[in-house]
Formats: sequence, structure tokens, C-alpha cells
Amino acid sequence: MTVRRARNPFRFESPLEPEDLIGRGREVGWLVDAALERRVVSLAAPRRYGKTSVLRAAGRRLESEHDVVVAHVDLLGLADAEDFAARFGSAWRRAVAGRRRLRRQLDQLLGGLAEVGVTVLGSGVQVTRRPAREEAGVAAVHALLDLPGDADTPVLVVLDEFQALHAAWAQGEGVLRSHTQSPQQAGRVAWAFAGSQPSLLAAAFSDAGRAYYQQALALPLGRLADADLAGGIAEQFRASGREVGTALSPLLRLAAGHPQRAMLLAHALWDATPSGGESDNARWLAALAQVRARVADEATGVWESLSPAQQAALRSVQRHGTATAAPTSPAGVSRASRQSAQEALLRRGLVEQVEVGTGVTGRRYRPVDPLLGDWLDQRKLGG
Ligand SMILES: Nc1ncnc2c1ncn2[C@@H]1O[C@H](COP(=O)(O)OP(=O)(O)OP(=O)(O)O)[C@@H](O)[C@H]1O
Ligand SMILES: [Mg+2]
Repeated sequence: MTVRRARNPFRFESPLEPEDLIGRGREVGWLVDAALERRVVSLAAPRRYGKTSVLRAAGRRLESEHDVVVAHVDLLGLADAEDFAARFGSAWRRAVAGRRRLRRQLDQLLGGLAEVGVTVLGSGVQVTRRPAREEAGVAAVHALLDLPGDADTPVLVVLDEFQALHAAWAQGEGVLRSHTQSPQQAGRVAWAFAGSQPSLLAAAFSDAGRAYYQQALALPLGRLADADLAGGIAEQFRASGREVGTALSPLLRLAAGHPQRAMLLAHALWDATPSGGESDNARWLAALAQVRARVADEATGVWESLSPAQQAALRSVQRHGTATAAPTSPAGVSRASRQSAQEALLRRGLVEQVEVGTGVTGRRYRPVDPLLGDWLDQRKLGG
């Protein structure tokens, strides 16, 4: 008899299906309401906090419960205006696949754009660069960006990894803005800009872009609550024939609410727990060793990319909650240098300020990635 091994239920490498999300009910509900009100919203959070998963869950609900056309455009690694046209066109094509009128309208438009290099490719759209017609890509973008305002149903356009737009195409924000704020679209089409904090807000934005961006309603996406994680992890263990047992506490302590790190740890713990069994301290330690081995290369890469002052600042943040704790440092890095290095770490999204209640003196910081913090602890680097 063959025993079918249950599949590990904890995913950590890609956006989740809506039904696998732990917590986030409030955020998804907020996005749904904002889209129904045709708002322009922004969602900025550190890497791997679940931005794309939350947007997908909201999109799925808008499509199935409210008949909204949802186009999800991923701008990660965007190259230029032509690339934007191709990605937007492909996302729109997928979004309107089941809607005859919109599909026909898009096909007609694409027919007209063939001479500027826009063609249908499989289920998407491709744009071929023609050096003699540099404006072709921009013209295609304008034509495509008109489509959402023409739809006879409500529309949500999601621009994920939005910070890539300015980096790849300096005029892109202005072009986009001319459409989202046009009388044809304003108040008719909902837009959501998502990206990694803090780069979404950082210097990459032109002044005009920043002003525009700041008009968007911002949805904060923080860490997950321990109670939600505890419930979600225990439930998924149980549903796959295991009990999470006493290992749950150290797991939650280390993950500190970081969504992807919690899932990575839960995945390893599940692997270390036999079918029908319960995890305990020994299994937790086995899982932890696995995860530490897995993240070591990434942590080393991050560490080696830092200047000596940034390394000293990061060590100090992990140990003392701030880079400026000690007046002097064994590594010989002055307090002022550690202070500016801490700012650089904040800008890079490696360190974040910890939300503290009122009455606490001094700001506290922590590494965004608790496993980077753990890696530092393990290495027992001086400082
Ligand atoms: N609500 C959640 N419940 C459980 N796991 C989550 C949740 N949100 C995020 N995760 C974990 O984080 C991983 C990354 O999620 P997702 O890709 O949506 O994040 P992201 O913020 O878009 O990441 P990136 O910055 O890489 O684009 C998921 O594979 C999952 O392991
Ligand atoms: Mg994402």
C-alpha cells in the first residue's frame, strides 16, 4: 500500500492564494471598499510582507462579488516605456478575457497599434522597439491607458512594484498621472500602487511624482499579530495531520510577526514533524538549523554589501535597538557615523523603526528581517 504524504501547507516563495492568507481581513476589506469607491490608493510595506497576496485577495473578491475588472500589472524589472505598454496591455488582456465588448475594443486598438510595433503574443501583448519611432512606445501607453476609463464596468488597476516605473522611465509617472487624473477617469477608475517600502517613497520619485503619490490613500501593512499566526499555523498543522505543539512559542518569538519568515519557519517545522506527530523542542531545533542554513547565503550577501559603519550600525540595532547606543564602538566607528549609517539602513529597508507607545524616550529600531538579526546573533560579531 502506498501512503500518500501530505503536502507541506506552508508556502514562502510566492504570493499566496486568498484562502491561505493568515489575518489581513481588515486590509483586504479596506482595499475592496476603496476600489468600490474608485479611489487611488497606495500600499507600501517592506519586502515579503504580503503586499501582492493582499492585493490579489482583494482583486479576487472584487471580481467575484462585485463584477469589477481587475488588471494586475507587475512592474518588477521594468525596462522602459515599451515594456510598460507591453505589461499593461498584457494585464488588460487577461483582465478582460471573459468580457466580449472590452475584448473586442482591445483587439481593435491593438490592430491599430500594429504599425507602431504593438502585437498580440499568446495571451499577452508584445511591443517591438523601433528606433526610428521612439515615441511609439509612449503613444501605445497613452492609447492603452485610455482603456480603463472606457470600460462599462468598474475597474481596478493594480501597479505592483510601482517604484520600478520611475527608475525605468522618468516621464512615466507624468504620463500615468495625465490619465488617472483626467476627467474621463478621475472618480471612475480605481488604482492601487504597491511597492516596497521605503523605496516607494524614496528619492527615486520626481517631485511631481511624489506630490501625486502622496495624494493616494495609504494602506499600512504591518507585521502579523502573534495570535493570528498562532491560530493559522496550528490550523494548517492540524489540517495536514500534525500538531504544532510546544514549538509554536519559540517560532513566534523568532518570527516576530514577519509574514514570510513565519511561513519559512513553519514550513521547516512541518518538515521536521512526522505525519501524525507533534512538534517539540528537538524538532524545533532541527527546523531552526535548516532555516539558518537556508538563509546564511542571503544574510552573508547583505552583510558584505554594507560599509563598515553600516555593519556597526546594524549590529548595534540588533543588540541595543539603536545604532547610537554606545558612545564609542570597538570597531572604532563614531556615533555620528553610526547615526548616518542607520539612516542608510532605514532607506534600504533593512532596518525599521519599532512602533512604541507614548512616553518612551528615544526611538527604537530593529532589523526588518528577524532572520538577519538571528544570523548576527549567531555570528556573535563584536560591537
Ligand atoms: N497574510 C499572510 N499569511 C501567511 N503568509 C503570508 C502572508 N502574507 C505574506 N505571507 C508570506 O510572505 C510570502 C510573500 O508574500 P507576497 O509575495 O505576497 O509578499 P510581497 O510583499 O508582495 O513580497 P515582495 O516584496 O517580494 O513583492 C508568502 O509566500 C508567504 O510565505
Ligand atoms: Mg510582491
